Amino acid sequence: MKYTKNKQFIGGMFDEISPTYDKLNHLLSGYQDNRWRKSAVKYLASLSSNYENILDLASGSGDLGMEFLKLNPKRIYSGDLSLEMLKIDKEKLPSEINRVVKCEAEHLPFRSAYFDLCGIGFGVRNFERLSACTDEIARVLKPGGKFVTIEMFKPLKANIANKSFRLYFEKVLPKIGNTLSKSDYAYSYLFESVDNFLNIQQYTEILQNSGFKILKTKNNFLGIVNSIFAEKL
Ligand SMILES: C[S@@+](CC[C@H](N)C(=O)[O-])C[C@H]1O[C@@H](n2cnc3c(N)ncnc32)[C@H](O)[C@@H]1O
Repeated sequence: MKYTKNKQFIGGMFDEISPTYDKLNHLLSGYQDNRWRKSAVKYLASLSSNYENILDLASGSGDLGMEFLKLNPKRIYSGDLSLEMLKIDKEKLPSEINRVVKCEAEHLPFRSAYFDLCGIGFGVRNFERLSACTDEIARVLKPGGKFVTIEMFKPLKANIANKSFRLYFEKVLPKIGNTLSKSDYAYSYLFESVDNFLNIQQYTEILQNSGFKILKTKNNFLGIVNSIFAEKL
């Protein structure tokens, strides 16, 4: 199968794997994924105590949104392409705070300068026109609003540790993931989506071009999983 970031394809793939997504995420990350989300939210809490309106974009099943609850928001909007992922998000988060919105990152159905915080966990590498999406995120954030990205990037330097991980990620993880999710391709696609993505330097340049100042970058795992904290100027 040829690698693509076509939105219909991506939405359909996440619909398909939604029933097993959470369990496999935890298992295949060695139960680290929630630690990375928690640590990002802890740092955000140190930056501000005023996160009234939060956008969890590419929210999937809502695990980042669950952490955002700790910031005491008035509203969390969970936005995603995949209706099946949003259904899981809706069951997890409290209905008085959460609003689920089927949407696409390039065209957000929100007014300008509405959000205090936007977060994307493991979503940006799927975006077809990344800089159009980061421009759109800058549009919906207030000046001074924060943007956190947690993502898997191409390592800046290859070393034995990340080369060994690459081997696991390319050869072992797709076999386990595809079998347990009963998908023919979703976890092979996962490897390809990272292999075809940017390194963290290239990503932060895109953010700067969209009008963000980089506040901090945090290497969570082998220079591959990073959190990037930015502020809208
Ligand atoms: C790997 S999941 C991450 C879910 C969640 N944020 C987490 O931390 O586990 C990626 C999600 O991004 C969504 N997605 C991919 N491309 C998108 C786009 N262009 N606009 C909105 N959502 C998108 C997918 O439907 C999927 O639910």
